[in-house]
Amino acid sequence: MRKPTISLIIPTYNEKENLPVLVRRIHESLSNYCDYEIIVVDDDSPDETWKVAQELSKQYPVRVIRREGKLGLSSAVIEGFKQARGELLGVMDADLQHPPEILPNLIEEIKNGKDIVVASRYVKGGKIENWGLKRKIVSKGARFLTKVLVPQARSIKDPLSGYFILRREVVEEAELNPVGYKILLEILVKGSYEEVAEVPFTFGTREMGKSKLTVGEYTNFLRHLYRLSETVGEVVKLVRYMVISVLSLFVNVFFFLALTNYLNLHYLYSSILSLEAMILFSFVLSEMWISKNRKIKKPTSAVLRAVKYNMLCLGGLLINIGILWLFTNVFNVYYLISNFFGATGAVIWNYAMNVWLTWKTR
Ligand code: GDD
Ligand code: MN
Repeated sequence: MRKPTISLIIPTYNEKENLPVLVRRIHESLSNYCDYEIIVVDDDSPDETWKVAQELSKQYPVRVIRREGKLGLSSAVIEGFKQARGELLGVMDADLQHPPEILPNLIEEIKNGKDIVVASRYVKGGKIENWGLKRKIVSKGARFLTKVLVPQARSIKDPLSGYFILRREVVEEAELNPVGYKILLEILVKGSYEEVAEVPFTFGTREMGKSKLTVGEYTNFLRHLYRLSETVGEVVKLVRYMVISVLSLFVNVFFFLALTNYLNLHYLYSSILSLEAMILFSFVLSEMWISKNRKIKKPTSAVLRAVKYNMLCLGGLLINIGILWLFTNVFNVYYLISNFFGATGAVIWNYAMNVWLTWKTR
């Protein structure tokens, strides 16, 4: 048998009303476009979805994997990948919340050289129908946390989408963890790929059956995130940033004390000098401790980075001096204490700017 262009993996659990409609719509969308196969991975649904799928396979290129029990969404997808013969692999839900009509658009992007194409709710033109405030907030929080903890997700608007296609090489060598719901995230971290595209779609309302997303899946998701973050070393990095920030504060206080008390400098001047000492200190430390894997091409590039780093911390300088002056002169706070507050403000600013910058450059 000839290899199809795309294998669509459809995990199902109690979707017997939805599956026939979905399969028909996939056929209408793809039959004039390319060869395809549908792999239904059913977890022995009590409503006998597998039976419906077997029935459909008489009329459409549908293969059915019936597993022994409810082993989970991600593991179903991985099972489907193993059985798939297509050059491309696709994943979509059975409940019609993922419109098959955009499949040709997704495949076009692969033809444009992309390796992974995500059907996205959050790029321009995409949207979500009928979500309550609670689910919106939860989803936003989940996305934010994902981007903080997983660098590979930062450049992608919808890294938690359940609708996507990819070249089979992306996952062929990857060891994917079968736990949880967010298989795309797992692939973004462990797959081998270069370019990702996002195509907008409208995440529709579920008409038939119920969502299987339980509270347990949320804790699963948090554990999944933490595990991925550990794998890529991002937790360590964030903790190191914090340690450096606190240490910098000590350096600042030390210099400030020394300059005002022993060299008798005016406190505004010593504040500037001690801030610079703190900036250099944290620069050197983060170069050694956080970005040590970065290859230094030219020795001048380190100097250039130091200058850039200084520019970045300029806002911190203004904050430090502003607070110091205000507290000391206006509120009559002892200048050492004022400076401590000022430096804390600067540290927070510098920290935020650094995190922001690392976000941007990914
Ligand atoms: N085989 C199998 N085993 N299939 C499952 C299981 C399982 O344990 N749990 C769910 N499914 C199937 C459902 O039958 C459906 O086809 C699909 O997986 C999605 O399940 P839903 O319960 O409809 O999930 P959802 O709509 O809440 O979540 C979807 O949207 C999220 C984005 O908000 C999924 O696509 C998520 O991956 C996505 O993150
Ligand atoms: Mn759904």
